[in-house]
Amino acid sequence: MLGASNSLPPKVLVVGGDSLIGSTLVEHFRSQGTSVGFTSRRPHHKSPACIPLELGKAVSLPYIPEVAILCAGVTDFRSCAEQPDATRRINVDAVLELATTLHLGGACILYLSSNAVCEIEKDSVQSHSLPSITTELSAQKYDAECGILALGERATIVRGAKVVSCKASLIASWLNGLSNDQTITPLSDYYLSPVSLQFMVTAIAQLAFAGASGIFNISGAQPLSYSDFAYQFAAAMNVNLGLIAPENSLDLNFPSYYPRALKSLGMLAMTSPSGILPQSVRSVIDDLIVEFFNEQSLTNHSYPALSEKR
Ligand SMILES: NC(=O)c1ccc[n+]([C@@H]2O[C@H](COP(=O)([O-])OP(=O)(O)OC[C@H]3O[C@@H](n4cnc5c(N)ncnc54)[C@H](OP(=O)(O)O)[C@@H]3O)[C@@H](O)[C@H]2O)c1
Repeated sequence: MLGASNSLPPKVLVVGGDSLIGSTLVEHFRSQGTSVGFTSRRPHHKSPACIPLELGKAVSLPYIPEVAILCAGVTDFRSCAEQPDATRRINVDAVLELATTLHLGGACILYLSSNAVCEIEKDSVQSHSLPSITTELSAQKYDAECGILALGERATIVRGAKVVSCKASLIASWLNGLSNDQTITPLSDYYLSPVSLQFMVTAIAQLAFAGASGIFNISGAQPLSYSDFAYQFAAAMNVNLGLIAPENSLDLNFPSYYPRALKSLGMLAMTSPSGILPQSVRSVIDDLIVEFFNEQSLTNHSYPALSEKR
């Protein structure tokens, strides 16, 4: 049930406040002085800004915000491939039910989708030579997009490219390996068009209050292989490039539920409300390095060997 509160409700509600992007959005809005609440399905949150919420279970929202940013859901390709029905109930049915409730109450909806949906919408894919692969997660994202767009005005889709961050498992494992002078094995035949966490969050936050409806892309400027990205990142960190041993997915029997190429998307629609252009690889790596050293200053136990190499 939707209830009223004595004080003004937060302007923004981040659904999925524990997610990589959602948690950083909450920090970002707080740093900008924008009142923000968030949801979590974890029991330990004591913050008054936290609303307990598990998609797929009964939802009780104490207020309707101006803008709701939907970040929660099952985000790994493997779970969606192995449990398509259960994950669809969360990623499509429950997300749309919540979005409809919030929208009917007057909120603007901003739904985080992914450039993986472009495997389905082939017309919007930039020219490329790799075969398209449709994954269950992409299909669920696409169906959720359709439901959100059907809400009409005040409904925005953000198709985000792969976010690289020291807090995400891929980069964290590279940093761990490189820090311990261990070989890392990025794929040479899988591609991403990376954006930094900071870039993604800044762009989403700008869009949240732009009053624009429709589909917006947030993308890196160019696709490159995971191994090329690892080389550029390691070079910028002044790390021994001999520690990078690219591997080919065909030699690894790599599972087919991961999309092989997450492409770069045009950002024309995004550029007009925000002035933001696709992020260059150099800028992504600069942001990663800033994030890395900020993390180091907050924790006293991470990657000392890498810090010394700079
Ligand atoms: N990260 C990327 O590279 C990227 C790129 C493009 C688009 N996106 C999209 O952006 C959104 C956020 O991505 P992210 O990487 O920040 O996500 P994430 O870190 O993988 O977090 C997903 C969150 O969803 C929560 N969740 C899962 N099932 C739930 C349920 N039944 N009820 C409530 N919460 C549930 C998880 O809760 P727990 O923490 O409790 O497990 C987790 O906090 C997703 O929609 C994703 O598809 C991400």
